[in-house]
Amino acid sequence: MTLTPKQIVNYLDEYIIGQFEAKKAIAIALRNRTRRMKLPLEMQEEIMPKNILMIGSTGVGKTEIARRLVKMMRLPFVKVEASKYTEVGFVGRDVESMVRDLMQASINLIKEEHKEKNTSAIDEMVEKKIIEKLLPPIPKGASSEKQEEYKRSYEKMKSRLQNGDLDELKIEVEINQSSTEGLENPHMPPEIIKVQENFMQIIGGKNKPLKKEMSVKDAKRALRTEASEKLLDMEAVKTEAKVRCENGGIIFIDEIDKIAVSSKSQSRQDPSKEGVQRDLLPIVEGSSVQTKYGSIKTDHILFIAAGAFHLSKPSDLIPELQGRFPLRVELESLDENVLYKILTQPKHSLLKQYEALMKTEEVELIFEDDAIKTIAKISQKANEKMEDIGARRLHTVLEKILEDISYEADLHKGEEIKVSKDLVHEKLDNIVEDDEVARYIL
Ligand SMILES: Nc1ncnc2c1ncn2[C@@H]1O[C@H](COP(=O)(O)OP(=O)(O)OP(=O)(O)O)[C@@H](O)[C@H]1O
Ligand SMILES: [Mg+2]
Repeated sequence: MTLTPKQIVNYLDEYIIGQFEAKKAIAIALRNRTRRMKLPLEMQEEIMPKNILMIGSTGVGKTEIARRLVKMMRLPFVKVEASKYTEVGFVGRDVESMVRDLMQASINLIKEEHKEKNTSAIDEMVEKKIIEKLLPPIPKGASSEKQEEYKRSYEKMKSRLQNGDLDELKIEVEINQSSTEGLENPHMPPEIIKVQENFMQIIGGKNKPLKKEMSVKDAKRALRTEASEKLLDMEAVKTEAKVRCENGGIIFIDEIDKIAVSSKSQSRQDPSKEGVQRDLLPIVEGSSVQTKYGSIKTDHILFIAAGAFHLSKPSDLIPELQGRFPLRVELESLDENVLYKILTQPKHSLLKQYEALMKTEEVELIFEDDAIKTIAKISQKANEKMEDIGARRLHTVLEKILEDISYEADLHKGEEIKVSKDLVHEKLDNIVEDDEVARYIL
């Protein structure tokens, strides 16, 4: 990762409108880690990541920012919902599983990277296997002339194979299947997975080659998977994945406000929510978590927590946890202007999505500018009148406007449909007028 904070923000700007403070905080946090890695080891140990708490009402882009970051960066990343966890000792997922998930993400990431590096070796291995099926084997002690001839036919076969000339041919191949795959559940504690693996070995379920007849085309695919696993140096992957996880990993804890205990409901504190918060402390602070790939130190993992904090406040989190999220950023709620931009500007904005969807039916959807403005205005009004659900309102509003067009798309094949201001009013006015109806429909 060599992007500067500004470049990160610029990238995010392509997808998310506004919310500069949040983007900036995250960009700086990410850059700080690159900076940290350049320091002497001793100093590195001292520098803790500055965890971030994002506060903003629903639908303003909290999760979206995280989602975009993951796509951009080759960093291990997991997004978890705080409300899914239960206190240690209770049935349910314990908070440590988020670190196990992160390590798994890191393993997958590094595996992919290694596979990319291995592409040509993998291709060669697959080609060799298939060609050996097709060519009669060269007898031992063959003359050098024969060997030369074999080489020539090998090369010829290879180019035919690469061209896809042989794709339809049927051959018989042996595929190694590792039968623990599919049984694996990453949420299980590592001890249990170990037991399971041992068990599979005892009953001999593992690595029995399977003979199968298939087309060369399918064989290519099947053998590729096998070859890439074979060429993978799992030990190297693990080592690299551990480093990447511990120093580059990001855990995004969504809905953190759901485990805050509102001071208003003074009657009885919810023991399980507080328990989850307490369980989170050591992980955020820095501790070791056992995973099936060894123990992972969480000291330098970056935690980003997000929540709407409608019913509770950040100060309703236990003080120790608050202190572990020193950076607070508030996301703005979205006004009419921002909503208009969200409709039009992002790379894959909603309008572009609808246009593309309708295009598959050969219907050209055209949104007129004052129609878009009206959509933004009505969405804003609906947000004011009812709950503020941010940009999510655009989805419900657009759905309503386009419902009929979408339903009858087949009748309009090859046509151009203009979404005008009048059409928007026609579809929405009587809904917006009536609060009760609006509550259900928009
Ligand atoms: N500022 C923004 N720019 C562009 N799109 C946005 C913005 N805010 C929200 N959206 C769009 O609105 C939808 C909901 O946003 P998101 O999932 O980020 O909400 P959130 O803030 O995480 O809300 P919640 O608290 O309910 O989880 C997404 O489809 C996203 O693309
Ligand atoms: Mg969210």
